[in-house]
Amino acid sequence: MDYPDFSLANRVALVTGASQGIGFGIAKALAHAGATVAVAARSAADLERLTKEIRAEGGTAQAFALDVRKIDQVHECIRSVHGSLGGLDILVNNAGLGANHPAVEVTESDWDEMMAVNLKGLFFCCQAAGRIMLRQGSGRIINMSSQASVVGIRDHAVYCASKGGVNQLTRVLALEWSASGVTVNAVAPTFIYTPGTAERLDNPAYRQGIVNRLPIGRVGTITDVAAAVIYLASPAGSLVTGTVLMVDGGWTAQ
Ligand SMILES: NC(=O)c1ccc[n+]([C@@H]2O[C@H](COP(=O)([O-])OP(=O)(O)OC[C@H]3O[C@@H](n4cnc5c(N)ncnc54)[C@H](OP(=O)(O)O)[C@@H]3O)[C@@H](O)[C@H]2O)c1
Repeated sequence: MDYPDFSLANRVALVTGASQGIGFGIAKALAHAGATVAVAARSAADLERLTKEIRAEGGTAQAFALDVRKIDQVHECIRSVHGSLGGLDILVNNAGLGANHPAVEVTESDWDEMMAVNLKGLFFCCQAAGRIMLRQGSGRIINMSSQASVVGIRDHAVYCASKGGVNQLTRVLALEWSASGVTVNAVAPTFIYTPGTAERLDNPAYRQGIVNRLPIGRVGTITDVAAAVIYLASPAGSLVTGTVLMVDGGWTAQ
């Protein structure tokens, strides 16, 4: 038999929202697995620090400015990555916001901002990268979802709606593109300790409440999420498409 191959040598990967948290870690893990990594976000200084860290570990990385709410910037970023790095094999749509409000307090701008980043920006990144991948007859797209895409989380109405939308976009794109060699999947983590969640998870009572709901007995790490991304991006994951891979410590098994 052939043994599963998790190597990403000779692949070019783009990670959005790579300036901190999960995206930062995914970029480092992709580089460690052998990919040349394009890292994109708005915070240039943080991307600079990331590319330095990747290069110091022997990897190859380049930073690209990107606000996923601006669709012209999405096109420009994907064009530049493809031009500068000589290809685009893997797209990780990680950029996302996670604000929480009781539903009765959500404003129109709260709704528009979250949907612009989590859903609209993600879709147009898929579309721009998908056009290149369909032309070349191969590609991997991995969308960052959440356990909140399949279960309700109190005070997260807009977030849950946006991530439910991510799952549905993932399924439709997989149906349209898989026969042309482009797989499209989502990864759905539970609570992960990042700068985006640190304030809440550093509160011992809040953290204990979360851990009590997690059959695995701990919150997740960035490495837990990166491992799922590497699998879906690698040759080992080539039969997997249109799926939402829960990395949730069993939260949604209940
Ligand atoms: N942490 C968790 O518990 C958890 C659980 C499930 C799912 N997730 C999902 O995982 C992803 C990352 O979460 P995280 O906790 O690592 O978040 P985070 O620490 O808040 O980081 C968010 C990242 O997204 C980028 N971003 C935000 N708005 C952007 C925009 N308009 N254009 C481009 N990039 C933008 C930020 O970069 P700039 O500000 O530099 O642009 C930053 O790099 C999100 O999609 C989130 O929904 C997180």
